[in-house]
Amino acid sequence: MNKEDKYKKLAAQVAAVVAGETDEIANMANVAAVLHEAFGFWWTGFYRVIGQELVLGPFQGPLACTRIPYGKGVCGTAWAKSETVIVGNVHEFAGHIACSDASNSEIVVPMFKNGDVFAVLDIDSKEFNTFDEIDKIYLEEIVKTL
Ligand code: SME
Repeated sequence: MNKEDKYKKLAAQVAAVVAGETDEIANMANVAAVLHEAFGFWWTGFYRVIGQELVLGPFQGPLACTRIPYGKGVCGTAWAKSETVIVGNVHEFAGHIACSDASNSEIVVPMFKNGDVFAVLDIDSKEFNTFDEIDKIYLEEIVKTL
């Protein structure tokens, strides 16, 4: 199955899983699990906006940094810009926060509530250039259901 078809299937699965559950953290936990399992990413998880920081939320994968300031790293940049950030080689991204040496590329998708970013979805890959417009389109769609 190609990536797009995989995402289409997942989007339907996620919609079914989150339907009827109003607890945001429970839903984030299941979405992280579903994405991580389906694609075999290195790290898949959420950071929630709490004050001027992003605080680690539900995730799958190895231990991660717990707090990221506004505007810092790929996650803080996606929050500050209010847009998805795709990094093909994290070692070339100024200010990248290396939670794990094994990560080589990354996508961070901001999530909005009443126009404000309330969380970000962060996915790390061990390969370079893993993420593209297809990931952006479908991940943005998937997080809208949360
Ligand atoms: N690399 C991220 C930090 C979070 S970890 O990858 C899980 C960043 O630069 O914001």
